[in-house]
Amino acid sequence: MRVAMIGSGYVGLVSGACFADFGHEVTCVDKDKSKIDALNNGQVPIYEPGLTELVAANAKAGRLKFTLDLAAAVKQADAVFIAVGTPSRRGDGHADLSFVYDAAKEIAVAVDGFTVVVTKSTVPVGTGDEVERIIREARPDAAFAVVSNPEFLREGAAIQDFKHPDRIVVGSDDDKAREVMTELYRPLYLNRSPIMFTGRRTAELIKYAANAFLATKITFINEIADLAEKAGADVQEIARGIGLDNRIGSKFLHAGPGYGGSCFPKDTLALLKTGQDHETPLRIVEAVVAVNDARKRAMARKVSHALNGDIRGKTVAVLGLTFKPNTDDMREAPSIPLIAALQDMGAQVRAYDPVGMEQSREFLKNVTYCKDAYECAQGASALVIVTEWEQFRALDFARLKGAMVKPVLVDLRNIYRPDELARHGFAYEGVGRG
Ligand code: UDX
Repeated sequence: MRVAMIGSGYVGLVSGACFADFGHEVTCVDKDKSKIDALNNGQVPIYEPGLTELVAANAKAGRLKFTLDLAAAVKQADAVFIAVGTPSRRGDGHADLSFVYDAAKEIAVAVDGFTVVVTKSTVPVGTGDEVERIIREARPDAAFAVVSNPEFLREGAAIQDFKHPDRIVVGSDDDKAREVMTELYRPLYLNRSPIMFTGRRTAELIKYAANAFLATKITFINEIADLAEKAGADVQEIARGIGLDNRIGSKFLHAGPGYGGSCFPKDTLALLKTGQDHETPLRIVEAVVAVNDARKRAMARKVSHALNGDIRGKTVAVLGLTFKPNTDDMREAPSIPLIAALQDMGAQVRAYDPVGMEQSREFLKNVTYCKDAYECAQGASALVIVTEWEQFRALDFARLKGAMVKPVLVDLRNIYRPDELARHGFAYEGVGRG
């Protein structure tokens, strides 16, 4: 199959490289010349484990190309994926669909022969109808079908998620389009990943419902963590105790500083706007958004509490800045409001992140960047683990203690045990461990 991928950002690149790896002929398109030039030189502009190698191997095999020329890529394609950004619109929190609609207009001009136009971008329910209308209006003669095929990729594990998905959701009533989609995903289908065919609007809502549900699970356990902390219980064991119930499931019950990233915050917000537009307020999602927003700054109070409220003028060392490990993505990272709140309380902040320091400069001010955890701990009165990078899981506490003014660890990801830290002579504060 010949595939055109419109948008060579995170989703477009991962999907394009994986489809090429299945043996399809893929052309990734972008408007950003420097990005296309870099990709043509074998440089992948984002950090994602395994992606550089996958791109290189498939480009070398001639199955993966990068171009600025959208029309040429679309003309020869059996399937055109729209994988452009849908950021939160400033002011109202709705998803900004201007990139999607611009892409639809450009695709319309170029379609040639029966073409499946697939929205891969996360788009509110009804967007597929609008994409169809735009193309039909520009090209009443064209043979095409618009399909919704949401992605469920996690950053840091995106290739694994693409190649071993829990399910593939295809929203379309068009038989020919369903055949093309089945052919595209055949290697996964043969690996027994279920393909679920459904209506287009249903597929669009599945994506938002999935993300909102996962965000709800996290937020629920975070509130239980706060209660456990006050009531003298351990949220880790509560999560295990409820997660072993198959109806609940053990995943996404890890208490922490609140969810971040490029998807959950933006998608929960967009979903509740959609709910309001349909006069169906989604009160649970509204609560999730509010609770999660408040939580990030509340984490700074936890640090202050660990220092008995005496934080003004003190140095706090922050380990991990990105919203989660194995990514350089700083979007909506809990570290941003946390560090701002620590600074508002009068603390000086030193920070270290294995991959995200360069990206973080845009979001953080007046932070002293360090080359590793030990340099970061120098002169600090508290060490705060914000992102659970593997390299923070076996820290040398004797060395840290020697570097710090006071041995205090605030572990916002619960990667250590309180008794373990007590043995090392550290005061320890986790999340939800009363
Ligand atoms: C998410 C969805 O998982 C994915 O299916 C969707 O396509 C895009 O959004 P991603 O944003 O890459 O993926 O990260 P994910 O691993 O889901 O984590 C999101 C946030 O939740 C992170 O800030 C993470 O630290 C937090 N989280 C996750 C928790 O605090 N506790 C958990 O138990 C799980």
